[in-house]
Amino acid sequence: MVKVITYGTFDLFHEGHYRLLERAKALGDYLIVGVTTEAYDETRGKFNVIDSLVTRIENVRKTGFADEIIIEETPGQKFSDIKKYNIDIFTVGSDWTGEFEYLRDYCKVVYLERTKNISSTMLREKNRPIQRIGIIGTGRIAERFLPEAKLVSGVSTQGVYNPHTESAIRFAKKWGIEAYTGLEEFFSAIDVVYIASPHETHYEYIKTSLEHGKHVLCEKPMVLKKAEAEELFQYAKEQELILFEEIKTAYCPGFHKLLGIACSGSIGSIRNVEACFTKLERPETREMTDRIYGGSFTELGSYVLLPILKLFGDEFQELRFDSIRGENGLDLFTKASFVYPTGIGTATCGLGVKSEGRLLISGTKGYILAEAPWWKTSYFEVHYEKTDRIDRYSESFLGDGLRYEISNFLYMINKSNNNNFKLTRGESIAMADIMERFLKAERRT
Ligand code: CTP
Repeated sequence: MVKVITYGTFDLFHEGHYRLLERAKALGDYLIVGVTTEAYDETRGKFNVIDSLVTRIENVRKTGFADEIIIEETPGQKFSDIKKYNIDIFTVGSDWTGEFEYLRDYCKVVYLERTKNISSTMLREKNRPIQRIGIIGTGRIAERFLPEAKLVSGVSTQGVYNPHTESAIRFAKKWGIEAYTGLEEFFSAIDVVYIASPHETHYEYIKTSLEHGKHVLCEKPMVLKKAEAEELFQYAKEQELILFEEIKTAYCPGFHKLLGIACSGSIGSIRNVEACFTKLERPETREMTDRIYGGSFTELGSYVLLPILKLFGDEFQELRFDSIRGENGLDLFTKASFVYPTGIGTATCGLGVKSEGRLLISGTKGYILAEAPWWKTSYFEVHYEKTDRIDRYSESFLGDGLRYEISNFLYMINKSNNNNFKLTRGESIAMADIMERFLKAERRT
C-alpha cells in the first residue's frame, strides 16, 4: 500500500484545495491530510485564518479523499509524521517547490502544480476588504507598529496624522505612507485608527474617531479616567464599533498559555501575584519630564496591572501606592499593592530604578514563575512543593509582538465581534480607574 501525506491550512476551502487533495490521493492508496492549528499558523506568520480548525477539518473530510486527518501543530512535525505513519510520498502544491527537499532522505517528495488564480488569501481579501489603517502619532511606538502591521494580511497602513506638519511628513516619508495634517481628510482616507499619541490626547482622539465611524486600536493606557473609559466603550457599543486597548502582553500566545495554566488548578488556588517591569529611561524623554502624565506608573503600569486584574478581577478591597520620586516629582519607581478577599497582588514598575522583572503567581499547591521579559511571554516554569518537579512551558513570541494584537483586532472587525476576551472592557475600565486613583494620590490631576 502506497501511503501519501499532505499538509495545509485549508482556510475558506476552495477549488485549489480540492484539486490538490484529489491528485494527492491519486498518487497512492492511502492519503493522510495534516491540517494546521491556529497556534501553529501564527508561529509561521499566518495571522488571519478565518475558519476554525474544526470547520477546516470538516471541509477536508467532506471531499472524501482523506483516509485519515491529523493535526499539524509544530515545525518539525512533518519529519516525525513521515516516520510514524510509514509514508512513501510527501506532497504539496508547487508554491512550496524546493522547501521540502530535506524530506527526500525519508520518502518521495512530489510538488503538484498549483491551481491558478485561487487562494485563501484571495478569498479573504475579496470577502473582507483590506482595512486601511490610519495612525495618529509619530513616536517610537508608532515606528514599531508599521513593520508589524505589514505582517498581518488584511490590513494596510494608509497614512499618518499629526497636527505638527513636519513630524507627519517626516514619518510618512520614512515609511512610504501618506501624511495628513487635517483630521477630516485623514478620516476620509482610512477605515480604522491606531492611536499612538501622548496618553492625555487619547480620549479626544478616540471620541473623534468613533464619531467618524472608525474602529479604534489605542495604545495603553487607553485613558486615565474611569468615567472616560466607560463613556467611550458605551459609545463604541452604540455605534457598533470596536474599541480595543493595546497591551501587547494581553494578546501574545505565551501569556495566554500562562493564564490558562494558572487558572487550571495546577498550582491550587491563587493567593499572590507579583508583577514587576522596569526599563531605565533617559532623563530628557517625555516619560521622565512630563510632570502631569509622565512617570513610571502611567508608562508601564498597564503591563504589571494586567496579570493581577486577569487573575483576581477588579473587586479589590484595598489599593495603596508607594513611589520613589525624582527631583521633578515624577515617580521613578512605583509599587501598587492590592488586597483582595482571597489574595494579594503587587504591581511594580520603574523608569529610574532597576529591579528584577518577573511575574510570580503563588498558589496553594505551587507557583508559576516567568522571568523578564515576561511581558513578551515566551517561557515560564511551574514549581511545586517537591523541588525535583518543575514543569516548563515555552511559546513563540515573534518580533515586537504587535502583530498578535493587530490580528486580534482585525478578527474582531471581520467577525463583528465586540467580545475582546483577551483584554475585556471591564479590565480596561479597571485600568483607567487605577490610573485615575494613582494620579489623584500623586495630586497631579
Ligand atoms: N493549493 C493549490 N492550489 C491553490 C491553492 C493551494 O494547489 N490555488 C495547495 C497548496 O499548495 C497546499 C494546499 O493546497 O499544498 C493547502 O494550501 P493552503 O496554504 O491551505 O492554501 P492557500 O490558498 O495557498 O492559502 P493562503 O492563501 O492562506 O496561503
